[in-house]
Amino acid sequence: MAAYEYETHEYDVVVVGAGGAGLRATLGMAEQGLRTACVTKVFPTRSHTVAAQGGIAASLANMGPDNWQWHMYDTVKGSDWLGDTDAMEYLARSAPKAVYELEHYGVPFSRTEEGKIYQRPFGGHTTEFGEGPAVQRTCAAADRTGHAILHTLYGQSLKNNAEFYIEYFAIDLLMSDDGVCTGVVCWKLDDGTMHVFNAKMVVLATGGYGRAYFSATSAHTCTGDGGGMVARAGLALQDMEFVQFHPTGIYGSGCLITEGARGEGGYLTNSEGERFMERYAPQYKDLAPRDYVSRSMTMEIREGRGVGEHGDHIHLNLSHLPKEALAERLPGISESAKIFAGVDVTKEPIPVLPTVHYNMGGIPTNYHGEVLNPTAENPTAVVPGLMAVGEAGCASVHGANRLGSNSLIDLVVFGRAAAIRAGEVVDREAAIPATNKAGVEKAFERFDYFRYAKGGIPTAELRLEMQRTMQADAAVFRASETLKEGVEKMTAIAAKLPDLKVTDRSLVWNSDLMETLELTNLMPNAMATIVGAEARHESRGAHAHEDFAERDDENWRVHTISRVDGNKVELSYRPIVHDPLTKEEEGGISLKKIAPKARTF
Ligand code: FUM
Repeated sequence: MAAYEYETHEYDVVVVGAGGAGLRATLGMAEQGLRTACVTKVFPTRSHTVAAQGGIAASLANMGPDNWQWHMYDTVKGSDWLGDTDAMEYLARSAPKAVYELEHYGVPFSRTEEGKIYQRPFGGHTTEFGEGPAVQRTCAAADRTGHAILHTLYGQSLKNNAEFYIEYFAIDLLMSDDGVCTGVVCWKLDDGTMHVFNAKMVVLATGGYGRAYFSATSAHTCTGDGGGMVARAGLALQDMEFVQFHPTGIYGSGCLITEGARGEGGYLTNSEGERFMERYAPQYKDLAPRDYVSRSMTMEIREGRGVGEHGDHIHLNLSHLPKEALAERLPGISESAKIFAGVDVTKEPIPVLPTVHYNMGGIPTNYHGEVLNPTAENPTAVVPGLMAVGEAGCASVHGANRLGSNSLIDLVVFGRAAAIRAGEVVDREAAIPATNKAGVEKAFERFDYFRYAKGGIPTAELRLEMQRTMQADAAVFRASETLKEGVEKMTAIAAKLPDLKVTDRSLVWNSDLMETLELTNLMPNAMATIVGAEARHESRGAHAHEDFAERDDENWRVHTISRVDGNKVELSYRPIVHDPLTKEEEGGISLKKIAPKARTF
């Protein structure tokens, strides 16, 4: 093995990732005077949150009646009763405060006539505990809400003296023999130097793993790096089988057209020009939750009512909306539709198709963001020194299906929660953990193996095999036979990782090696997804199983815990958290109100 020298850095907290959750955590830590570093593989404002369009959910009630209890109820129902009740209460109750904080930090939200934050309708957000009309709960900055949030949080973090390590790729976590996380090993991409960050707390904010699939709205950087590192550390992943397909990815490119387009009055049609969502979801129609809409679109296509030459997609109509509304509320997607579909939205419908968008599963955490290592004896055991937030984590507020605009609020609520918790548990007076030299050597060994890998398969080829298999066999609809085949294929594909071929041996801007390391992160995420999906014999949220079409609360209202070792996945299950944080008599929501029932819209 080549000898790798490294520079050592010491911090109270190291946040890995600079998307919405990473930056909100970084800012919150730095505000409290914790010595905080944020390590990120892309420039902060290029993180994938920049692509978030439609908005951030919070019951501000700026456009009509709303309250946190209705938001919580919608989130519980949206999750298809798989979310953790304490975390869902925490999300819905903290949301308004978290959004007003963003406003005060300087996020340029769109405004109502009276100057309040503008809110639009989004799928699955309702009034009166799902009995009333759709609510306008999604706070928006036109259709560039993530962009606005990310730029503001980066500026505020700098103002509060957080230190940024930009274009540093995290290779592996440093774990002590007794299971405490003490730091992370990184490779600086632009000069090839190596860096060890020792810290009292490491926060993984590395985003999702959408790129395990062939067609995704996620950026190419969404490679599940946190999940990969956690799996290699022998820790668990949770509920990975639940993968969200956004109904409106542009046909062909997969580029996102925000749900805000339907929130502003857009609607879907099939080849007969029919607004088919009226049949599937008579009450909320095009504003039913995403799993519902994606399945309905797929059924229309399957039954021969898709549009286009091959009858393989659906139309999203916006041309009936006033031109001024499109220009003011949806300028970004009007541009994307022109660039990626050649469509003028004021005149023609946009060709769309359900496209992989979000991972409900991730690294299990409690609602403080602390990573859990669930065992049979202790399903909520905390991993000291390690947190996970945002799409990388699984708190779990989205359960089996996430509501649109509950992602941005998840990022800021749990980024903020992690900072609050770190303020309580990080001992400022204690010494920074010493360098775990054995851990550093192990990380370098793996790095070196792939740097000099001279096997038979180029990284891009194996990645494509994985992406095509996941796309075909862990799709909107799943079935026993294809899932079984998918598991067999993925097991064989993952076994080929040691046989990768890397051609560039350098350390400076070696994208061949970086993509290889990213593939080693994508693979355990993908394996956990397909194995978890094959094992779950029911239909719930985004997991629509044709051979087990009903939800089975008696046997399957449990979180899937997966531990991945190479191409092997060990599954176990842990109970969801049933109890809310606040008892009914103390102002909380009644358990009866949120008890499972049929999920119709
Ligand atoms: O449709 C969108 O604007 C996406 C929002 C989300 O995923 O929350």
